[in-house]
Amino acid sequence: MALKITVIGTGYLGATHAAAMAELGFEVLGLDVVPEKIEMLKRGEVPMYEPGLEELLRKHVAGIEGSSGRLRFTMDWAEVGEFGDVHFVCVNTPQKHGEYACDMSYVDAAFESLAPHLHGPALVVGKSTVPVGSADRLAARLVELAPAGEDAELAWNPEFLREGFAVNDTLHPDRIVVGVRSERAEKLLREVYATPVTAGSPFVLTDFPTAELVKTSANSFLATKISFINAMAEVCEAADGDVVKLAEAIGHDERIGKKFLRAGIGFGGGCLPKDIRAFMARAGELGADQALTFLREIDSINMRQRGQMVELAREALGGGSFLGKRVAVLGAAFKPDSDDVRDSPALNVAGQIHLQGGQVTVYDPKGMANARRLFPTLAYADSAIEAVRGADVVLHLTEWREFRELDPAVLGEAVTTRLVLDGRNALDPEVWRRAGWTYRAMGRPTA
Ligand code: UGA
Repeated sequence: MALKITVIGTGYLGATHAAAMAELGFEVLGLDVVPEKIEMLKRGEVPMYEPGLEELLRKHVAGIEGSSGRLRFTMDWAEVGEFGDVHFVCVNTPQKHGEYACDMSYVDAAFESLAPHLHGPALVVGKSTVPVGSADRLAARLVELAPAGEDAELAWNPEFLREGFAVNDTLHPDRIVVGVRSERAEKLLREVYATPVTAGSPFVLTDFPTAELVKTSANSFLATKISFINAMAEVCEAADGDVVKLAEAIGHDERIGKKFLRAGIGFGGGCLPKDIRAFMARAGELGADQALTFLREIDSINMRQRGQMVELAREALGGGSFLGKRVAVLGAAFKPDSDDVRDSPALNVAGQIHLQGGQVTVYDPKGMANARRLFPTLAYADSAIEAVRGADVVLHLTEWREFRELDPAVLGEAVTTRLVLDGRNALDPEVWRRAGWTYRAMGRPTA
């Protein structure tokens, strides 16, 4: 009989995982503690913007015409405990307020709520990004709380999906990492992931701490790559180099690779920034803090980029204050194809200029509602052309395709001054210059 799967937490990770599990043919029950989310999901609506996710949900959510009916949602822990053979915990682990460490309260609450309802053999699989050592602790807690005792087992299976590509990354993962303590757990997870494994996804079997560490080290490596190229951008600024050419040239070396070398205002979002900080905090607790002091530098290079974008704008406007200047900001999401504005470099830059007296108007294709909630004092426009109307400078801060496809000649008619600053090195300088714009990007003073 096909396995029954539950997914606890229905954010980017959980909602996508639940829909993907249904797509793979399993009966799935998703749980969240937020009633509004569950109501939306039951109607086949996604509480955030993620390309392709709504279609996949609607294909499987029970009660939707033509759906497979394999995916249902609930708020009832007893029902979840009763239903599942395998329970995926996908709740978030944000940064603790005022600390580097991550906040484990949602993960802990999920285990405390689920375990008392596990009356028979069950595999609980942690997917949340957690400090190394958590799985060991949670496994013990599970046995303690579950009526099934030792039959309630834990596995750790980190997730590597990227926002904007969540559906594809979940259905066709570039690797599946599972930390297990028994053959039974391994067998169950091989069954869950049989389809992607057959299609070629490598299945990496490991212990708990390694599984936890794979996730935080992967994100640390990605953050390091971005900060490396941003550090090179700073040197290019000082030496009249061109960081885009530099990245292209070093990227030809296969050992370095071309990806994740786009210089600009740096990384943000709900993962990279908090993950490297939580990793440093955990290493400190383990007495291995020296090993990760370099991440402090990675973090500060990254945060410095936002300030440098502000300074670039100030200089471009003549070097004085922002008072009375109209600044158009294209982009609010932390990356394109997402409506996520958590720790968004674009909004951070917009906010800094606003606080210094600039009249900032923001437009983003999908992130407007979330941006308004986070920065209610900024002005917002309904389109790129409205955002740039009367602007003294245009800042390109999230590299949406829509912005690359803008016609600089048309935009030029709307602005006061044809001055564009590219915080993502994603626009084509030639195209803008031909339309009479002054183009300036980070790390390319002469390009
Ligand atoms: C990241 C990882 O890439 C995923 O593998 C991981 O699963 C996920 O975190 C997670 O921990 O859940 P995500 O936060 O969706 O995924 O975003 P990324 O695509 O990694 O981009 C992060 C930030 O880096 C964005 O702000 C992006 O604009 C910036 N970035 C990316 C650059 O500034 N330059 C680049 O070359 C690439």
